[in-house]
Amino acid sequence: MMASESKAIPKHLAVIMDGNGRWAQRRKRPRIIGHRAGARAVATCIDFCLERGIGALTLFAFSSENWGRPEDEVGGLMKLFVHVLDREIAELHRRGVRIRFIGDRERFSPAIRERMQASETLTAANATLSLNIAASYGGRQDIAAAARALAEDVAAGRIAASDIDEAAVAARVALADLPPPDLLVRTGGDQRISNFLLWQLAYAELWFTDTLWPDLDAATLQRALDEFSGRERRFGLTGSQVAAIDENRA
Ligand code: FPP
Repeated sequence: MMASESKAIPKHLAVIMDGNGRWAQRRKRPRIIGHRAGARAVATCIDFCLERGIGALTLFAFSSENWGRPEDEVGGLMKLFVHVLDREIAELHRRGVRIRFIGDRERFSPAIRERMQASETLTAANATLSLNIAASYGGRQDIAAAARALAEDVAAGRIAASDIDEAAVAARVALADLPPPDLLVRTGGDQRISNFLLWQLAYAELWFTDTLWPDLDAATLQRALDEFSGRERRFGLTGSQVAAIDENRA
């Protein structure tokens, strides 16, 4: 990995889409109106990634904890997910987007699970943009599932306990086939990870904005990219070591 790839655009953008509820509240509208406006911002974000050649985009659409929200909000969100998928999938496919869902899909209704599966199958061979929707996803659950898979491998004699290293865990968490996110954007003013991709975000640059998710536009995303490209990614090394590595590779 080039230590100074900071000059480049991110390979994998991860996004915590926060602020839909407050956007609606400020307009004295029900929260679901904010989520609908948020769906338009999702389209803006996908367009941006396609235009800039960002190869992977992972969106936190629904956390494991979001099931605890009021029933009407959860129901409204589920309807919105179905509606948006049905409306957008053909166009996403045409534009070369590969769509995948990460998280515990068993908790969704059969109708939603079928759509998830169908959209994954339809777009499986696309390679322009890998769009990953984290739905009923939790970072700790992801790591726990990887630990369980490793335990099963050991119990079945496929690997020895002493084989378990970083690479073995990395191969079993979600999105193992993609480069880990190098930039995390969170809208809505809070500065936390909220149990998103805990393992995968270890070296990501973090960028926070007070902009509420439905107000997201290309200029805001460009600010994030500009700041990302100005940051030096040292991966635990010193600045002069990074410069030396870059000189050797040049
Ligand atoms: C967080 O805002 C947002 C969500 C829990 C839902 C995200 C869903 C969308 C953007 C809709 C469409 C998505 C797809 C993938 C089609 P919040 O409700 O927590 O906002 P608040 O912090 O202001 O209450």
